[in-house]
Amino acid sequence: MTERFIIPRSVEWNDTHITILNQQKLPSETEYLELKEISDIWDAIATLKVRGAPAIGITAAYGLALAAQRYKASSIDEFKQQLQKDRDYLASSRPTAVNLFWALNRLVSSIENATSVNEAKTTLIHEAIRIQVEDEDVCRRIGEHALSLFQDGDRILTICNAGSIATARYGTALAPFYLAKEKGIHLHVFASETRPVLQGARLTTWELMQAGIDVTLITDNMAAQTIHAKNITAIIVGADRIAANGDTANKIGTFGLALLAKSFGIPFYVAAPLSTIDLATKTGKDIPIEERNPEEVTHIAGTRIAPEGVNVYNPAFDVTPHELITAIITEKGIISGNYEAALPALFEGGETS
Ligand code: MRU
Repeated sequence: MTERFIIPRSVEWNDTHITILNQQKLPSETEYLELKEISDIWDAIATLKVRGAPAIGITAAYGLALAAQRYKASSIDEFKQQLQKDRDYLASSRPTAVNLFWALNRLVSSIENATSVNEAKTTLIHEAIRIQVEDEDVCRRIGEHALSLFQDGDRILTICNAGSIATARYGTALAPFYLAKEKGIHLHVFASETRPVLQGARLTTWELMQAGIDVTLITDNMAAQTIHAKNITAIIVGADRIAANGDTANKIGTFGLALLAKSFGIPFYVAAPLSTIDLATKTGKDIPIEERNPEEVTHIAGTRIAPEGVNVYNPAFDVTPHELITAIITEKGIISGNYEAALPALFEGGETS
């Protein structure tokens, strides 16, 4: 097969540093950054050099494991105290995606029974690598389940970037498109540009084009017209946090697409790993919504597009109420209907579909 089929990756562990694909620079530059200090890792997450819920979790896990290699602790208790401090520091980089806290907590728990500093250091590296390896497998399984909902020729709308570079590989919402390509099934993706940071325009189109997947870019305000004129058959999005009742936080603009899906009578799917489900958060009202720098709205690529001093509201995420979600697609299968009952069951083992 001579056809190009590249699935880009965004994070790599390299013993003395972490390498990340700088997503701020895409698509004009493919720059890889070597992160050595915990402050570099915090900054990379906060400034969206690495972004997307699972990728943030993976990077933070590697960052914590890397920082811990330098601890000069004389006892395991002292080591654990330093680890907790660095865990809290990295956890302050972004508030909405629960994968960040999930991954950091998983690392802290992994050394609960460690009896020496050396054992703890090795365990942390292994656990962080495991999180990344598992995520690749999880995303592939999400892709397989999601693909079962689509048919050859479908035209599917997505927002933001829930793709390979937002995860270990394949993505969540974009995973079915990679698998369809592998199987010779033709799906056409419509990518919403995703103002203000343009993850759809800059990242989703870039990574799908790398893989030779059909993608058409639209601006966010073209969604209704596109669903109508291009006969969109479904909408699929990723998630940053799914509350216990199924309410889902995802990139700003997602809620509007869910309302459009209802209005047009097409399915609205959320694709996410179990690490994005937060049963401790009861409803969408309890999900902290990040508000970012007004400059993201007043400027495009460094050029001011709004008057100096204008008031700006810049929420990075919105919450789609569970009743607008046709189904949630996870690595354990597809659930729909009563999410409050179905979500906890996912953690009990076995596949649901
Ligand atoms: O602000 P971002 O770019 O980190 O937001 C990312 C999203 O909203 C994604 O849809 C979500 O994290 C899922 S990534 C598989």
